[in-house]
Amino acid sequence: MTSPSTTVARTSFDVRRVRAEFPILSERVHGKPLVYLDSANTSQKPLPVIEAMDAYYRHANANIHRATHVLSERATALYEGARIKAAAFVNAPDPRSIVLTKGTTDGINLVAQSYGRSTLRAGDEIVISWLEHHSNIVPWQMLCEQTGAVLRVVPINARGEVEMDAYAAMLSPHTRIVAMAHVSNALGTINPVRQVVEQAHAYGAVVLIDGAQAAPHLAIDVQALDCDFYALSSHKMFGPTGVGVLYGRPSLLESMPPYQGGGDMIQSVTFEKTTYNAVPYKFEAGTPNISGVAGFGAAVDYLMAIDRDAALVHEDDVLEYATAQVSSIAGVRIIGEARQKTGVLSFVLDGVHPHDAGTILDREGVAVRTGQHCAQPVMDCFGITATIRASLGIYNTREDIDVLVRALDKVRAVFA
Ligand SMILES: Cc1ncc(COP(=O)(O)O)c(C=O)c1O
Repeated sequence: MTSPSTTVARTSFDVRRVRAEFPILSERVHGKPLVYLDSANTSQKPLPVIEAMDAYYRHANANIHRATHVLSERATALYEGARIKAAAFVNAPDPRSIVLTKGTTDGINLVAQSYGRSTLRAGDEIVISWLEHHSNIVPWQMLCEQTGAVLRVVPINARGEVEMDAYAAMLSPHTRIVAMAHVSNALGTINPVRQVVEQAHAYGAVVLIDGAQAAPHLAIDVQALDCDFYALSSHKMFGPTGVGVLYGRPSLLESMPPYQGGGDMIQSVTFEKTTYNAVPYKFEAGTPNISGVAGFGAAVDYLMAIDRDAALVHEDDVLEYATAQVSSIAGVRIIGEARQKTGVLSFVLDGVHPHDAGTILDREGVAVRTGQHCAQPVMDCFGITATIRASLGIYNTREDIDVLVRALDKVRAVFA
């Protein structure tokens, strides 16, 4: 479904070995082996991530950047080490361009409230698409309320792809910010983000890419994309919850005011005047999720040790198989048939509410997400209120899809 940069034999990715590294995949639910097809919601965690968090609490638990004792040094080394790993993961030019956040939502709010609030004026325009997750809609709506800026929304076509002609026509000298998903969480569409950035830059707009769903599947290169901001969440890419990355173009981060005030983001505080810490620390107020960041560092190591092109070939194979198998079920309508997709199969089943289907699938051991997937406008666009979404991680197999299809037959039998 995507084109990996090099052709790799499928055998170079050993999914059995990968599965063995995720303890939860051996779990039984309702007496059945777990089939986890909800990784777009949150991914499962491999042993090295679980062990890194455990090791942090056993051997390094202390606050960072503050004490002179050895535990604090260990904690700081883990924390700053994860920043360096994150920089390599997105190919950032410098670890100082990596702000450690709570997740994608936090990163987008940071950009809206720091960059956006300090630079936008009434009449300026923010461009997003109909494909966005609520986290890449609501922060911009709030910013519009605060500044008088106007939100413009690029339509999508019947396949669930952003209309690039409409996007080009919407850009103007009024466009100040473009914010778009790299990969849609509801449909799996891969957006042409390089082109999005290039066209926005021609008008002097800054571009934020929401990479929450891209990070577990695609190689990310913020320098090749030439984006101004790139946000992602650790928990979607096999790391713990409550941690994320915001890459920011160094010159922009330097120019931006802090987002929140508190400890660690200051250089000096008096009642007369406070001076702020250097980038990126001025955006990291308060004690962060240190154990989570230690786990995130292990998740980055884990992903970078994998042949990601081969993993993508495997994932694409499972997605293609799933699409063919699920499409062949009577009464199924696939929602989102973009030419470039990854990781997600959304569909509806004639005469069955997705929540009812989800409940029956759960009894069969199959975990999917049902609902509007925090992307209500996407559902509106397709004239539906919800879908059944099977979403994939590197650990899923064709056998998982066979179980899903048999469970869907049971759903159909119940509602026949
Ligand atoms: C495309 C996209 N953007 C943003 C988010 C928000 O991520 P988080 O809840 O980790 O902040 C998600 C989560 O599902 C997502 O899929």
